[in-house]
Amino acid sequence: MLDSGVGGLTVLKSALAQLPAENYVYVGDTAHMPYGEKSPEAVVDYTLGIGHYLLDQHQIKALVVACNTASACALPALRAELGIPVIGVIDAGVRAALSSSQNQQIGLIATAGTVQSKQYQDKLAAEQAAVLAQAEPDFVQLVEHNQYQDAEQQSKIRADLAPFVGSGIDTLILGCTHFPLLAPLIQAAVGNQVRLVDPGAATVAELDQTLSVAGLHTQAQKTGFRRLYTTGPVAPFTTIAKQWLGQQAVDRIDHLDLTEAAGE
Ligand code: DGL
Repeated sequence: MLDSGVGGLTVLKSALAQLPAENYVYVGDTAHMPYGEKSPEAVVDYTLGIGHYLLDQHQIKALVVACNTASACALPALRAELGIPVIGVIDAGVRAALSSSQNQQIGLIATAGTVQSKQYQDKLAAEQAAVLAQAEPDFVQLVEHNQYQDAEQQSKIRADLAPFVGSGIDTLILGCTHFPLLAPLIQAAVGNQVRLVDPGAATVAELDQTLSVAGLHTQAQKTGFRRLYTTGPVAPFTTIAKQWLGQQAVDRIDHLDLTEAAGE
């Protein structure tokens, strides 16, 4: 799995619950975070570097792009270069939103890169859903700086999400994998009548199906290993990973220097 930082841990958490026997290697590219403010070309470049590292050094059998921004721009390149199943989060998010919404009026919060890619909007419009989309780059930083449980952030989040209140949406897509960590604050801001959709859980269902079709499920009966890497500092990443996944959920967390790894 890969993400620009800790966001993809929301997808990993679902995977550990749904497919606990698989082995997981996760790379958070904190050194290049935030992806949402980078050009699509740069994001393709970063994720190809990570994809090759995971394939070459860890012999992964499938890659989950646990990042909406990278899913929006890098899936074709990753699929063409890696030659293994590559699963993004956007299609799963679209399906989950369509099954949640009763009135086909759907909100989307995501990074600027994901909103500008129009992938969610176009896929939902093709199913006759109306979409109100807004970029929330600051939310990524709140999560990365471990301020996602901080009630002081509630007024900022409330102000940012005010356009959704009374807008008629009945479903809001958390279209950035960092945002489920802020779910209680986001829910309080938009009100309980709006259902929050986290594409991560639906993505893991898609991973499960992909592994089944390809005959790639592990036959192991025991819990798999969970190895995490960050391209940034290890300590803050570890704090959030343990808070979010649980103290014992992870076997190792290490720093990864992709330029060194490429030379190995
Ligand atoms: N977690 C990412 C996403 O789902 C990206 C956040 C960022 O680095 O801007 O889009």
